[in-house]
Amino acid sequence: MAIDYDVLKEIKERADIVDIISYFLPSVQKKGRNYVCICPFHDDHKPSMQISKEHQTFRCFVDNIGGDVFTFVQKYEKCTFEESVRKVAEIIGYDDPRLHKKTYQKPVDTDLVPVYDCITELQKFYKYCLITDEGKIARDYLEKRQLSADQQAKFGLGYSLSDGKRTIEYLKQKGFSFKNIEDTGIALLQTSGMSDNNAGRLIFPIFDKSGQVVGFSARKMTSGDDAPKYVNSPETRIFNKRKVLYNFNNAKQTVKHDGYIYLVEGFMDVFALDSIGITSCVALMSTKLTNDHIDELRKLNVEVRVCLDGDRPGQEAMMQIISQLNEARIHARYVSQAGELRDPDEILKQDGPEALKAYVNSLVDPFDFIIAYYESTSPLSSNEDKKKVINHFVPMISRLKSSLDADNYIYKLEKVTGFSAQAIRNLVEKYKSGQKIEKVNNKTDVIVEHKGKGVPRELRRLEFAESMVVEQMMVDKEAVIFFEEKIKYFYNETYRVLANFLVDFVHNYPDAPITPSALIDIVSLSNVNNKEEVVNLLTSLSFKVSTIKYSPEALKDCEKIITEERTKVYERNNLLKAFEGKSVQEQARLMDEYIKRTTKNGQ
Ligand code: UTP
Ligand code: MN
Repeated sequence: MAIDYDVLKEIKERADIVDIISYFLPSVQKKGRNYVCICPFHDDHKPSMQISKEHQTFRCFVDNIGGDVFTFVQKYEKCTFEESVRKVAEIIGYDDPRLHKKTYQKPVDTDLVPVYDCITELQKFYKYCLITDEGKIARDYLEKRQLSADQQAKFGLGYSLSDGKRTIEYLKQKGFSFKNIEDTGIALLQTSGMSDNNAGRLIFPIFDKSGQVVGFSARKMTSGDDAPKYVNSPETRIFNKRKVLYNFNNAKQTVKHDGYIYLVEGFMDVFALDSIGITSCVALMSTKLTNDHIDELRKLNVEVRVCLDGDRPGQEAMMQIISQLNEARIHARYVSQAGELRDPDEILKQDGPEALKAYVNSLVDPFDFIIAYYESTSPLSSNEDKKKVINHFVPMISRLKSSLDADNYIYKLEKVTGFSAQAIRNLVEKYKSGQKIEKVNNKTDVIVEHKGKGVPRELRRLEFAESMVVEQMMVDKEAVIFFEEKIKYFYNETYRVLANFLVDFVHNYPDAPITPSALIDIVSLSNVNNKEEVVNLLTSLSFKVSTIKYSPEALKDCEKIITEERTKVYERNNLLKAFEGKSVQEQARLMDEYIKRTTKNGQ
C-alpha cells in the first residue's frame, strides 16, 4: 500500500538521519561538518560511510551506496520502501492512521475447506504409518540415507501403506467423501474402487508458503524396476505447481537474517544443506524456474544462490536460470566448481559436511559461471569459441539497465576474448537497435570497423553541459523554469528523468525548497524504471549542492552547448542507422555530408 506523501514528509522532518543510522550502527561519529561510520554494506574497516546532517543523506565512498534515511533502512533491513517508512516512524515514535496497512486476507473458498481438512488429515496419517510395523521398510530406507529424526519431523516425512485401499478407507472413516479425496489429488474413483497412487512409497509432503500441505511427492524405495522414482501429486485446485517452491515455508523464516536463499534441484539437496546448517534453501523439484517462482524470489529481496547438480543437465539449467534472473534483475550468484558432477546430497554422503560447505560456498557471478561453462565444453582457444561467448553475452549486456554493470562485463569480456571493449560495445548497441548480430562471424564486421574509437566528443560535451544544468536546477527554481522553457529535455536518460521530477516538484510544491532528500523520496515512491540511477545521482548531488552557486550566465552557456551538440549527436545516431546495409561508397558519401553539416560553425 502506497504511503501518502504528506505523511512521509512529516516523518522525514522529525527523523534525523544521524539518529536513525546511529540506532542501527554503533560506530557513527562526528567528523568536520559531516558524520562518518563503518559501512554495513561491505566489509569495511575504516569509516567509509559519510552522513550529511545538513542534507539528510548518506553515502559510502567505497561501494557507492547512498540515499536518504529511508533508503538506508530499506537497504539495511532489506525491506521495501513502504516498510522502511513504517520502521522509521516506529523508531521516532510517530503514529498516524494513514500509516496502517489495511490487511487483506484472501477469503478461502468455502468448498475448499473440506479438501484442506482432508489433505491435512492424510498427511498426519502418512506420518503415523512411518512409525507402524509396516513402516519399518521406510525407516530403514531413511536410515540408509542418513536422514536424522529431527529432519524427518521438520520436513514431515511419512510412509504410505502398500495397500492403497486402506488409506482411502481411513479417510472415508474420518468422514471425507470420494470427491474430497479426489480433490487432494492422490486417487481417482474407478470401477474397481479407489486406491492411493502413493502406495508403498516414502512421502514428502509439499507445503505452500503459509505451511499448509497442498500435495505430495512419493519416492520409491526399491531399485532395479522401471517404476518412476517419484510419483507427484497432479495440479489440483489447492496445488499450483508453478507457484510452489519446496521448503519455502521453512526457508522464509531465516532468509532475511541470512541475506541469501539457495535454490537447489531436489528434496534430498534441501536436506543435505539443512544438515550443514543452511536452512534458507528451496528446491525447484525439477530444473525449471517459472515466472511465479521468480516473483516469489524477488519479494524476498535477498541474494539468490543457484546450486543445481554439477552434471550436464544441471549446468545447462543453470545457464537458462542465469538469463531468467538477469532479465528479472534479481541479484544472484552461482555455485561453480570445475569437474564436479555430483549433486549436493552425493557430495555430503561421499566427502562429508566440510566438502559440502566448501562446495556451496564456491559462488561466482553470472559472468564467471558462463565463462567456466564454455571452458568446460571446450577451452576458449579458437576464435569461434570466443565469438560464441561474445554472442552469448551481447543480449544479456544489452538488457542491463546500469551502464556501469554493462561496462564491467564488457571489460571482463575484453580480457577473456581479446576483442576490444569498443567493438563489444558496438555489438551491444547494434543488438539494442534491433539488429541481428549474425554477422559476427564475418571478417569485415563491426568488430574490425570500430576498433579503437572512444566515446564521441560531442556526446561528452553534451552530457557535461546537461550535468551542469542539473546541478543548477538543484539549487535554484529559476534554473528549473529555464530548463522547462529553453532546454526542454535532456539526452542523458538519468538527467532527463530527474529533470521531469524537478519540473513537477516546482509546480506541485511552489513554496517548498528543492532538496535532494525530498526528491529521493518522490523518486522512490514513483515507478520509473531507472529509479536506482536517479537516486544515486541525487545522492551524489546532495554532497555537492552546498558548493554550487546559481549562475544564469553558466546556464545560458550550457544551453548553447546543448542545442549544438544535441543536433550532432542525433545526427550521428541517424548516420549510423543510415549506414546499415549501404555500400562502402555510399557510407563514405553520407559521412562526408555529415561532417560538412556538423562542422559548419567552424569547429
Ligand atoms: P533427482 O533425481 O536429482 O532426485 O531429481 P534427488 O532429490 O536427488 O533424489 P535422490 O537423491 O535420487 O533420492 C531432482 C528432483 O526432481 C524431481 C524431484 O522433485 C527431485 O527431488 N523428480 C525427479 C521428479 O519429480 N520425478 C522423478 O522421477 C525424478
Ligand atoms: Mn540425489
